[in-house]
Amino acid sequence: MPSVFTGGPNAIGYTAPPRVPGTRTSTGEDSAVAWEEATAAERKTPVPGGQTRRRRWERRYRRKQGADFIWYLDRAPTELVELVESHGTPGSAALDLGCGPGVITAYLAGHFAHTVGLDIAHAACRQALQRARDEGVAPTFVVAEAPTLPFRSEAFSFIFDRGCLQAIPRAGWPTYFDEISRTLRPGGVLQLFVSKPMKRFPPIWTYRGARARARWMIGRRGAQFLSHDLLQRLAAPSLQVVSLEDSPYQPSAGPPRTMTRGLFSKP
Ligand SMILES: C[S@@+](CC[C@H](N)C(=O)[O-])C[C@H]1O[C@@H](n2cnc3c(N)ncnc32)[C@H](O)[C@@H]1O
Repeated sequence: MPSVFTGGPNAIGYTAPPRVPGTRTSTGEDSAVAWEEATAAERKTPVPGGQTRRRRWERRYRRKQGADFIWYLDRAPTELVELVESHGTPGSAALDLGCGPGVITAYLAGHFAHTVGLDIAHAACRQALQRARDEGVAPTFVVAEAPTLPFRSEAFSFIFDRGCLQAIPRAGWPTYFDEISRTLRPGGVLQLFVSKPMKRFPPIWTYRGARARARWMIGRRGAQFLSHDLLQRLAAPSLQVVSLEDSPYQPSAGPPRTMTRGLFSKP
């Protein structure tokens, strides 16, 4: 039976957040709420504004089901399937970072001995939990805000991220790669999907060009957002870049985007 994690010793070394007086830490939803409150009260996040980001994602998931999001995929991406099915995964553990509605978490749970889906939004984990139940697989879900990961070092042999890193403000990107490197086992792999607008910046001397660059500098999106060069610099020295590729990506609504697919390994 899949579950929303409530803490305690386990295969991937999840550490329950400290208790906040007045909150319940029973099971399921209650404890996820306790985790949320503990995060606000007692845990320092490296990037200010975590509660605002969390509330924003909670609101989105309360209004929409997975398939209503423009980035929704109804099955695991081909690159992931090829990677997982060409490598044996017995006894190993996988993390789906920013698991959202859990399509990919459910796929991973069918291939790894332990699978964890982590999302900032409790409402996302609830949708993902239902999906796992429907598919008869048993991953675990954790409500937490990346980049800080509440797992022991070297807990995972595989980490998958489609759309989470790009939702983390720039100030958190170095911590993100530190945490990935810390929680991956030697020989472990990160598969990363980052999407961004296709258009390049307008010329710098125009108002739109200057504004686009300013937005990029404060962490908003832009065509140069999370470039190959930056991803390489962020990943070094703890992770090796195996591949970085761009291809066009068409969400179910809106303009076409570029999808960067990266594969990183921990030596
Ligand atoms: C674009 S969606 C992708 C969902 C899923 N990976 C997929 O491909 O279907 C990004 C997800 O990341 C989650 N997210 C955003 N910021 C996060 C953070 N700092 N920590 C954990 N999850 C986060 C959101 O709640 C959302 O579910």
